Amino acid sequence: MFDSGVGGLTVANAIHHLLPFEQLVYFGDTAHLPYGDKSSASIQYYSRKIADFLLEKGCKVVLVACNTASATAFAELQAHVGDRAIVLDVINPVIQQLAKQPDGKKVGVIGTKGTINSGAYERKIKEAAPGLEVVSKATPLLVPMIEEGFIYDDISNAIVRSYLSHESLRGISSLILGCTHYPIIKNQIRKFYEFQVEILDSALIVAKALKKILGQQDILNDVPPAGHQFYVSDYTDYFNKIARVFFEEEINLQQVDLWK
Ligand code: DGL
Repeated sequence: MFDSGVGGLTVANAIHHLLPFEQLVYFGDTAHLPYGDKSSASIQYYSRKIADFLLEKGCKVVLVACNTASATAFAELQAHVGDRAIVLDVINPVIQQLAKQPDGKKVGVIGTKGTINSGAYERKIKEAAPGLEVVSKATPLLVPMIEEGFIYDDISNAIVRSYLSHESLRGISSLILGCTHYPIIKNQIRKFYEFQVEILDSALIVAKALKKILGQQDILNDVPPAGHQFYVSDYTDYFNKIARVFFEEEINLQQVDLWK
């Protein structure tokens, strides 16, 4: 699985708990983050390189854990990987879950500028659940806010309130957390809505979808795996420190340069 940085470890964490016998090979493209402000062409190029690295490591699944890469590079990456592995993203499983909602509901999506500007969520929801109304809002400050540790405090409350009070999001009954980082402030968002809005956390939904697919294909591991591997394209102590916040366990990042 890969992400633009260490935020995708929220997805890794969900998989690690739900599928304890699967070995994770995680690649965080810290040399190129944030993906949220990059062009689709750049993200597609990075994604291909990273997928080739994961395939060399023998991965049976390539999971695009980054919402921005899922929104801008997924179809292209599927074509690139072909039948060499199962390619999954973090958007389609959420759409499948949403499609079960009754018609007439208003659904909000928040994410990076790249994710929201791509229109991927809106397009896919309209295809899968045309009876739902979809509204989206880019909330780019949330990523640096969370990385800098501003969570559950006055500053983050003010930023969350400012974004989520936006007129376009008024009256939603569900909110999709369309970014790797947002599960960290899930309860803060719930509280902002006084627990009246359903919060769709893609990390959990994706882990469940992965379990289902591995089961259907009969390729679930049934013995404890070798240790997980965590790679980054640019190592700093700072990334190592915040990686623990996202994975909620001690981990060691190893640097590997795919762009030599
Ligand atoms: N991983 C990105 C996402 O889920 C957020 C951070 C970035 O912009 O690179 O969209």
